[in-house]
Amino acid sequence: MNRIAIFASGSGSNFQAILDACREGSLEATPALLICDKPGAYAVERAERAGVQAISFVPKEYGDKAAYENAVLQQLQEHKIDFIVLAGYMRLIGPTLLSAYKNRIVNIHPSLLPAFPGLDAIGQALDYGVKVTGITIHFVDEGMDTGPIIEQVPIEVAEDETRESLQKKIQAIEHIFYPKTLYQLFLNKGEKIIR
Ligand code: GRF
Repeated sequence: MNRIAIFASGSGSNFQAILDACREGSLEATPALLICDKPGAYAVERAERAGVQAISFVPKEYGDKAAYENAVLQQLQEHKIDFIVLAGYMRLIGPTLLSAYKNRIVNIHPSLLPAFPGLDAIGQALDYGVKVTGITIHFVDEGMDTGPIIEQVPIEVAEDETRESLQKKIQAIEHIFYPKTLYQLFLNKGEKIIR
């Protein structure tokens, strides 16, 4: 069974959905580690409650990105991690982790990429006035939300949509499709998705 490390910076509701799916058996993976770059993040509390080891880092305590990622990598190797799952991790992955986990880092983004990459994708979509937005699950490369797309789900934007209502709709879909897509990915040994 694949051992996964989830990387989160915030609330960790996607982390929770992944934990729940692993526990229910709808996702065959072992959530072995939470890596957090914001020590007080709620995701850490979720990990503790679920009995998953959480390791918090303060990136600015390291000389540079490579030093920080080397420290993270050491933990991933110690815990024999097969896949990295980004779930609201607010940091670009650098060459250290990318080369160690080539094609084994996955991210979820709250828009239909390549539209609205980067910060505040939901706000960007609303400001643009799109009628349809959605979620994207993709492999991570060196760019900002640019890696090969694994799965996308469209979501309609209602006439009276607010930021809060759209975020709620998006998160509900994320919580269903992130575990489901990971399940299929792992079934195919990270290589191919069968729809
Ligand atoms: C999600 O909407 C995800 O798409 C984005 O960051 C958000 C994280 O939310 N990358 P949570 O921490 O999982 O609740």
